Amino acid sequence: MSDGPLIVGVGGSLRSGSTTEAVLRYALDRASDEGARVRLVAGEDLVLPPYQPGRRDAEGGAAFIGAVREADGLIIASPGYHGTVSGLTKNALDYLEELRGDDPPYLTGRPVGCVATAFGWQAAVTTLVTLRQVVHALRGWPSPLGVAINMADHPLDADGNLVEDRARELLSTVAAEVCGFALARAAGTSSEESQTA
Ligand SMILES: Cc1cc2nc3c(=O)[nH]c(=O)nc-3n(C[C@H](O)[C@H](O)[C@H](O)COP(=O)(O)O)c2cc1C
Repeated sequence: MSDGPLIVGVGGSLRSGSTTEAVLRYALDRASDEGARVRLVAGEDLVLPPYQPGRRDAEGGAAFIGAVREADGLIIASPGYHGTVSGLTKNALDYLEELRGDDPPYLTGRPVGCVATAFGWQAAVTTLVTLRQVVHALRGWPSPLGVAINMADHPLDADGNLVEDRARELLSTVAAEVCGFALARAAGTSSEESQTA
């Protein structure tokens, strides 16, 4: 981790002007303010064939898997589709099964900020809860704060800028938590290394 932690943002939708991608970009900008290097994997980057176990790094999955493998922390943002994580996002997350054989496996030890959008609170919250469960299953550390954003409250302006103060505050907090955890983990890892050297 030479120039700050690498935080990879994953999510959004294929809709032109995806609001989920806009809030994810906002969170990554805040992570950048915290000194992180950031990378966005969104929209068409997530268009992968349905994940097929055993067909390693199939058709474009390699780039996504590689980005996650390199990440010191993640921020995942999904729209709520029928009360849960969208198929686009979930299919991409299924590809992380390819990290099973890594040492350590999956997202072990890495912080993950979870963000959900929906056109109502109910699906925003259920989608957020599901995202956190997926992160647990992948052995990542969901950040203490998760963010559910109700797009029916119009938190974005016509140009796609996030203008709602509360959403800005929550996303900034999640970005700070993910960066702080990644830095603390890196410091812990290097002190463990110096103790065993
Ligand atoms: C297929 C589909 C299913 C959806 N299901 C729900 C839902 O169950 N509850 C809800 O509040 N919003 C639902 N929505 C609305 C989206 O969650 C919401 O508009 C979201 O912010 C869109 O994100 P995007 O702009 O990134 O595409 C649905 C939208 C689509 C396209």
